[in-house]
Amino acid sequence: MTTRIIGTGSALPKEIVTNDNLAKIVDTNDEWISSRTGIRERHLAKEETCSSLAAAAGKMAMEDAGVGPEEIDLIVVATCSPDSNFPSTACKVQESLGLYHAAAFDVSAACSGFLVALHTVYAYMNSGLSKTALIIGAETLSKLIDWTDRGTCVLFGDGAGAVVAKADDTGIIQFVQGADGSMGQCLTCDERSIVNPFNQEAKPTDYISMDGQAVFKFAVTKVPECIRQVLEESHTDIEEIKYFVLHQANSRILSSVAKRLKMPVEKFPMNLDRCGNTSAASIPILLDEMNRQGMLKKNDKIVMSGFGAGLTWGATLLEW
Ligand code: UT7
Repeated sequence: MTTRIIGTGSALPKEIVTNDNLAKIVDTNDEWISSRTGIRERHLAKEETCSSLAAAAGKMAMEDAGVGPEEIDLIVVATCSPDSNFPSTACKVQESLGLYHAAAFDVSAACSGFLVALHTVYAYMNSGLSKTALIIGAETLSKLIDWTDRGTCVLFGDGAGAVVAKADDTGIIQFVQGADGSMGQCLTCDERSIVNPFNQEAKPTDYISMDGQAVFKFAVTKVPECIRQVLEESHTDIEEIKYFVLHQANSRILSSVAKRLKMPVEKFPMNLDRCGNTSAASIPILLDEMNRQGMLKKNDKIVMSGFGAGLTWGATLLEW
């Protein structure tokens, strides 16, 4: 028994912010941002929330899959920027979409989160605990950004992507995932301080902080490594892979991974020019775009790979 993706959806906030818009608030310019990252614009939430984006993407994925609310028995949302510590985003999605037969919880693995959620669902399905699941990556990172820090504020965007997955005989073929907490300080965003009647020392609110070059080096080394691992473990020739659907952090990272794998960059679809880095949402948003454009045909083999804070990483080989 494995896990098959049978429907996709995505939701982006209405507000589009271009590189030129950002150049009005920090010392940057379109040329620097687009040449160093490939990003030209991103969507930022105004009236939308993490859970409203998650629910909109989930609804679309269920419509695409032709699955009704009573069929979903598990909701897993990957996010590191939820509306609340609790209830979880997954519980809010359950309420919003009326998925009352489903267990619901969030996972936190930053930009690797969607794949960790997918692998978790695989484990549930493989042990007979779930038959039809809704898996969502949803982020509103804009609220975690220091908008005076040009090194990070130009990179991120808000949005959500979702898939419906079913227990089936084909689908996920192999996956790997890992973490290296010793490199955790490369990319951080602290929660609020522990303040209580016995400890009054509050730290100032923290925002996303990143050692960009360290994360860049990690990504261009670890991503090809875990993709090779997933292919080797499944005895799959890399030439069989139609697309490599990677976390959308930086077009230079994707080009470098393509080069290291000796694959044409055309096999690495990108939407970061329009969406920026949407963390856990980036892979399912891209997957939904590809699905709607008819790029994915039955039996196509694709590899997805995510990487980010933790540091964490993962790769999934699946048959569409
Ligand atoms: O999804 C989570 C995973 N995150 C990532 O994968 C991010 C990985 N890292 C990266 O994508 C890149 O490291 C960045 C895009 C973040 C930065 O690119 P870089 O080529 O590593 O630039 P840098 O940080 O070395 O900065 C080069 C210069 C610096 O100026 P000096 O010291 O050379 O004078 C920066 O101050 O560019 C400057 N700079 C900027 N200039 C204009 C940094 N940010 C900006 C900016 N606009 N927005």
